[in-house]
Amino acid sequence: MTVSARNSSGHIGHKVGRVVVPRDRIADRVAELGRQITADYLGRDMTILAVMNGAAVFLADLIRRLSLPMKLETTTARSYRGRSLTPGGLTVADLQPEAFAARHVLVVDDILDTGQTLRAMVDQLAGFAPASTAVCVLLRKHRPALHRPVEAQYVGFDVAEEFVVGYGLDYDDLHRNLPDLCVLDVGAEGRP
Ligand code: IMP
Ligand code: MG
Repeated sequence: MTVSARNSSGHIGHKVGRVVVPRDRIADRVAELGRQITADYLGRDMTILAVMNGAAVFLADLIRRLSLPMKLETTTARSYRGRSLTPGGLTVADLQPEAFAARHVLVVDDILDTGQTLRAMVDQLAGFAPASTAVCVLLRKHRPALHRPVEAQYVGFDVAEEFVVGYGLDYDDLHRNLPDLCVLDVGAEGRP
């Protein structure tokens, strides 16, 4: 059996650099978000709309921190294609109107970058007459030069303008299973 060298984050076999947010800090913050969202949505008919696959890990932890009845819907969005690190064409799956009418909808995603993905979600939802729509993201990327078309009401962490993976976030569909959030190890030629 070949044993790969550990990289600086201690994760064997993953091409990642330093840890940006370790698992225990993520857990503490997700618990805090859960308390805040519970307080805000208690007594309301709540539906979470999770944007897969990136939100999968965050979603699983977050909903177990919500002390209230809620329904769960999932959808898919793809804005990063394969090995590109910059946003590409956006594909959003169609939503079912019945799941959202007259309900308080919280859209959950992994990261708010340009905001194009969440804008598309919020626009689709608007046609289904929800009682309210809000956005929750684990990460919000620092983008000083950008005016985002949508904002998030619940944010786990603000992160620098670098490509992060782990805890659900991927590069080329890899690294989602890392328990910590790490920077991607971009090689000398700009490729991981
Ligand atoms: P936006 O539409 O530009 O806000 O892009 C949001 C989507 O791009 C996220 O849901 C992620 O799937 C992906 N994304 C943006 N930044 C990163 C990153 O640093 N790491 C991994 N995925 C990212
Ligand atoms: Mg995503």
